Amino acid sequence: MSDAVKPMRVVVLISGSGSNLQALIDGVVSGDLPIEIAAVISNRPDVMGLTRASNAGIPTLVLDHKNYPTREAFDVELMQTIDAYTPGLVVLAGFMRILTPAFTEHYLGRMLNIHPSLLPKFQGLHTHQRAIEAGESHHGVSVHFVTAELDGGPVAIQARVPVLTSDDATLLAKRVQRQEHIIYPLAVKWFAEGKLKMTQGKAELDGELLAECGYQIDAPDA
Ligand code: GAR
Repeated sequence: MSDAVKPMRVVVLISGSGSNLQALIDGVVSGDLPIEIAAVISNRPDVMGLTRASNAGIPTLVLDHKNYPTREAFDVELMQTIDAYTPGLVVLAGFMRILTPAFTEHYLGRMLNIHPSLLPKFQGLHTHQRAIEAGESHHGVSVHFVTAELDGGPVAIQARVPVLTSDDATLLAKRVQRQEHIIYPLAVKWFAEGKLKMTQGKAELDGELLAECGYQIDAPDA
């Protein structure tokens, strides 16, 4: 009988294209990522991310938030749906919903999100345009634990991307997304291996509490 450690079960929530989901799928397929993506759940029907999951043989579900009378009712149903898969980690990959405190509390320390800015800068939407307008020399992306504060939980890892004079929001977003697809699988791997945790409201990596910006990597200028 094999005594190999079972891969951590992960549920991924999406709302759209699912390019970050694809990066996770690719990591599993290549053997780099010690997880099993148990299910992909979308709050929007007919999105590309659902096709990506189906192509990889991953069970998919749509829970359309428009069919629920309140945010609370949707989140309760979503929690029950997720928990049926008994995940060790919930991954928000472009899941564009504001979550209720009951939901974030339920998954505290075992739910990650990716946000396209160097948090705590530029929480919310249109982050690339706002970084350019603010004259930032650097922009980037953060993976953080999810807490009740929108885009406010402790950061595990950030990738910094230089803002070029030739950048518009689309060009900058493309370079940031390349980094997203590197750091999200890395953070998920660390979590699955037990290296990354949330302790005392902070992110901890290899037993050390991380600074506010998390573990930082600098992307090349190109
Ligand atoms: C990603 O760029 C992610 O950083 C962003 O949505 C995009 C989803 O792309 N998330 C947020 O803005 C969350 N506040 P994807 O569906 O191709 O992974």
